[in-house]
Amino acid sequence: MAALADTLREKIRTRRARTGVVGLGYVGLPLAVELGKAGFHATGIDLDSRKVQAITDGRSYIPDVPTADVQDLQRRGRLDATTDFAIVRELDTINICVPTPLRKTKDPDMSYIVSAVEGIAKHLHPGMLIVLESTTYPGTTDEVVQPMLEATGLKAGVDFFLAFSPERVDPGNPTFQTHNVPKVVGGFTPTCSQLAGELYGTAIETIVPVSSTRVAEMVKLLENTFRAVNIGLVNELALMCDRMNINVWEVVDAAKTKPFGFMPFYPGPGLGGHCIPIDPFYLSWKAKQTGFDPRFIELAGHINGGMPHYVADKVAEALNTRRKAVNGSKILIAGVAYKRDIDDMRESPAMDVMGLLLARGAEIAYADPWVPEVHGREWSGGYDVKAVDMTRGQISQYDCVVIVTDHKAFDYKALVEEADVIVDTRNAIKGSHPNVFKLGAPREAAATEGDRVAIA
Ligand SMILES: NC(=O)c1ccc[n+]([C@@H]2O[C@H](COP(=O)([O-])OP(=O)(O)OC[C@H]3O[C@@H](n4cnc5c(N)ncnc54)[C@H](O)[C@@H]3O)[C@@H](O)[C@H]2O)c1
Repeated sequence: MAALADTLREKIRTRRARTGVVGLGYVGLPLAVELGKAGFHATGIDLDSRKVQAITDGRSYIPDVPTADVQDLQRRGRLDATTDFAIVRELDTINICVPTPLRKTKDPDMSYIVSAVEGIAKHLHPGMLIVLESTTYPGTTDEVVQPMLEATGLKAGVDFFLAFSPERVDPGNPTFQTHNVPKVVGGFTPTCSQLAGELYGTAIETIVPVSSTRVAEMVKLLENTFRAVNIGLVNELALMCDRMNINVWEVVDAAKTKPFGFMPFYPGPGLGGHCIPIDPFYLSWKAKQTGFDPRFIELAGHINGGMPHYVADKVAEALNTRRKAVNGSKILIAGVAYKRDIDDMRESPAMDVMGLLLARGAEIAYADPWVPEVHGREWSGGYDVKAVDMTRGQISQYDCVVIVTDHKAFDYKALVEEADVIVDTRNAIKGSHPNVFKLGAPREAAATEGDRVAIA
């Protein structure tokens, strides 16, 4: 074992190690590029032949990864990609970055991890380092991955090295990217930990070793559950503020001036993305298996899951001030990506808001510079919708505009000037305007036509 570890350590040090990344998505492609930049030959393995072709053509399809980087590495022979797991025979290290969604029942869907590990196991050879990065429940590495790899006859910690290292990438974040977000690493053995730490240390500034794969798995779930619960808390506060005629945005902004003991979270139309709405349920699923009832996670899920309904009610309230019903109204959804300035629509609450308004009889259109089309399978409408223009002159044809995602590219001044009523779920429009209804803010900040009629 010591000889295998020493050989791999030396290969990592001299960059002769052939590195591989399974799953070239939002997490895997940036990692493969960092490994290439660190001087390794990095090979991506993905079942999606379009992604493999893009890398072969020297093209990036992930906004955070410049095409120039992919092109440069590909030309210098530092980055390539394949759909064929046979390449594993030539690799020394593999990072697994495949999806970990939930099934409809909110149980973990482990099928992507299982299929990736099956592909690796067929070609596993002594001296390899395998690191799982996909977010998952504590125990996955030693209960699922280890037995599958050991079925080859090779032993973890002896013949090959195994670790878990959670990915913490924040798509669209200009400050923190793969190379400067500290990397937590937990190995199956201390040697596994060290080797994984040495590999990451070539490409990532700070490595945080922890004592086991399970601790590393739990770290990620704590981080994301922390966000889900705090967002749930502030969403509940927004609902309370709505009843009490208090502006929740002003409350959070003032509270965050406290220099210690407080961290701002903001309300919104509901949770989105591949992580926050999903990962906590990996933890609650596992906790329930031990007979433990994880109440915070369930409660936050309940409150956050109800936010799209609240937004739909707010739209009805706004239209009501114009003596209009949702039924038959033309409603423009501004922004369908799950957060600002990205193209990722996974779990986006915009899909729920659109579906709820459609169910109430609205005519739905959407604008999003990042998302040209919403496919029928992505929302309950079941039909494809193409993005429309939301520039000046195009806005007044709608009865209501709902800001679900506060992209920077939107012309908010034009919106305020031209829209009849706006429901702003992100506090994207500053100040109070008579035609703007904010989530979690008082009615009087939005004096209405109906009010004016009543007062007159
Ligand atoms: N996107 C994020 O912001 C983020 C942040 C932190 C952690 N994560 C976690 O990282 C993991 C990956 O997420 P992502 O956003 O990169 O997903 P993604 O969907 O963007 O990419 C996953 C890739 O894996 C490929 N794939 C699926 N099954 C495969 C298989 N058996 N073999 C080879 N390739 C396969 C898919 O084709 C896809 O290209 C998930 O567990 C996620 O929870 C994601």
